[in-house]
Amino acid sequence: MSSNAPIHSVLTEDRVFPPPADFAARMHGTVHVPDMDAYRAMHERSIRDPEGFWGDVAKGFRWFRPWDRVLEWNLPDAKWFVGGTTNACFNAVDRQVEDGHGDEVAILWEGEPMGAAGPEVRRITYRELRDEVARCAAALEELGVRKGDVVTIYMGMVPELAVAVLACARLGAPHSVIFGGFAPQAIVDRVQDADSKVIVTCDGGWRRGSVVPLKANVDAACERLPEVRHVLVLRRTGGEVAMKPGRDVWWHDAVAKQGTGRACEPVDAEHPLFLLYTSGSTGKPKGIVHTTGGYMVFTAATAHWTFNLVPGQGQVYFCTADIGWITGHSYILYGILPNRVPTLMYEGAPNFPAEDRFWSIVARHRVTHFYTAPTAIRSFMRWGDAHPARHDLTSLRVLGTVGEPINPEAWIWYHERIGGGRCPIVDTMWQTETGGHVITPLPGCTPTVPGSCTLPMFGVDAAVVDEHGKELPANAGGLLVIRKPWPAMLRGIRGDRQRFIDTYWSRVPGMYLAGDGARRDQRGCFWIMGRIDDVLNVSGHRLGTAEVESSLVGSKLVVEAAVVGMPHEIKGTGIAAFCVLHPDQAANAGEDLRRRLAEHVAKDIGAIARPDVIRFTNGLPKTRSGKIMRRLLRDIAAGKETTQDTTTLEDFGVLAKLRETDE
Ligand code: WTA
Repeated sequence: MSSNAPIHSVLTEDRVFPPPADFAARMHGTVHVPDMDAYRAMHERSIRDPEGFWGDVAKGFRWFRPWDRVLEWNLPDAKWFVGGTTNACFNAVDRQVEDGHGDEVAILWEGEPMGAAGPEVRRITYRELRDEVARCAAALEELGVRKGDVVTIYMGMVPELAVAVLACARLGAPHSVIFGGFAPQAIVDRVQDADSKVIVTCDGGWRRGSVVPLKANVDAACERLPEVRHVLVLRRTGGEVAMKPGRDVWWHDAVAKQGTGRACEPVDAEHPLFLLYTSGSTGKPKGIVHTTGGYMVFTAATAHWTFNLVPGQGQVYFCTADIGWITGHSYILYGILPNRVPTLMYEGAPNFPAEDRFWSIVARHRVTHFYTAPTAIRSFMRWGDAHPARHDLTSLRVLGTVGEPINPEAWIWYHERIGGGRCPIVDTMWQTETGGHVITPLPGCTPTVPGSCTLPMFGVDAAVVDEHGKELPANAGGLLVIRKPWPAMLRGIRGDRQRFIDTYWSRVPGMYLAGDGARRDQRGCFWIMGRIDDVLNVSGHRLGTAEVESSLVGSKLVVEAAVVGMPHEIKGTGIAAFCVLHPDQAANAGEDLRRRLAEHVAKDIGAIARPDVIRFTNGLPKTRSGKIMRRLLRDIAAGKETTQDTTTLEDFGVLAKLRETDE
């Protein structure tokens, strides 16, 4: 049933790793959820009495006006902290200054290392962050941004990206961050969908010693976006960029001159905080809407529990994600800053200038918490043990993974080679739509099993069910659902109510459908088995097969294309494209054309969408109703030949006919 299941089989793993006995000592005596009895009691209460539970948690935040009601639930619409007003920037930043922590480090940043001088390091205190965010907010206002206006942010991983995000939150202007690896067309689609008039970008970003042309990409996009009124440009690389008079303004002109008086705008708890576009099963990416109060409370509270963050004890938290993805939104910025543990951001790539970049960062900054993706871990394994072995990793206390199921081999390697056998691993399962962790172990509390994301977060009523919503017995594969609202759940898809209902709320009546296949084992632990829709998880990033298909067809070299996932040693899932060439091109089938097509997709969408394998065929196998038989293509891409008849793709037509008579 699971269509895009990853390569590794997770079905046989049963090694259980109890919480290390000395974990509490390494946590300065503070383990927020100290044992499984505490977990069960808290989880039980959170499900039985969500209003009481989340009301108590939310009291730990600053509200300009208290809420009247914790939850209003009209399936599928949840409102949390109804009637309350707050500000996510205030709780992340200003509040720390008001509470006397202004001189503590909020953001620790390392630029891409350049030459012998080593990396540029910046330590930004809460006070400095507050002031720069206030200045940036004032500059955005001067450019016409008002509460409710969507601001698009397309930047590299520099501290000013965090500043821009928080400045939007300060004004109540929802941000829409576009990953800096996306191509101009992705900017066009997202800016149009969001009806955004202002873009914040950089001249360029550093990656592996070369410059990513961020401003040039924005310029290319703006040719198709006459509605964009202003582009605010940070100088990062110092390269030549064109500045369009009247539209483009430099950050150092517009921001630096501002005062620091712009206060946080009180916004309704349900005021939209941001849009984040993610792939779905149709070609058009969907703008997931998150609102302020519930998201703020849930991300900070889950970060507190999942990573056991303890302020004032020298912890340093490093998440390797880009802020262009939900992981960066929730667990570099919004969830971490309120916890008053420095959040480390880095610019560049994990293998530049060498494959030990992360381990040198960990050693240099005495990182205690390290959070990355399984695909990265598989790369580390391939690069060899010598890289981590060269560095002092003894500061590490908690390791995390996110984005895809982790294969047990990678889990064990991570545990031993990076964690020195002493660090609990939190395998955090969640989605852009869930806003924060929904299934995860808690360090020092939950016994872990390599490959399982274990147990539900507080307030999350996760289950594995059949199509009718009936819970399945242990070890039976089914659909992952969440049966009750949780504070950071998405509030919708921008401009597409029907798609919101169809995607998440229709297949299993009354429950949130995650889109993943899963099973629960005899201990109640969850095992994610992969997406059930036409979404691929490539290196932990979501990609719709339809997006890649439409790009291929858009090249005009191809008349029809079918894209499926295939096993890939590093990426987990690779991209296989089956293409029917345009008749004019048929004679050109070969390596050169494959390269051109792959390049076209990378240019069109971004490098993450570049197909790993392109196969030419005379026709695609289809059912009588014209549906492409993806399962068959997946088998072929995986090298699993279902019958002798499939050895050549030219046999597709025949095979399809055979199949039809089978069905
Ligand atoms: C997958 C990333 C197994 C899953 C935060 C989900 C995982 C999709 C895990 C969301 C995990 C994420 N174990 N699978 N720990 N974490 N996934 O929206 O298929 O980019 O639906 O959010 O990634 O991807 P998204």
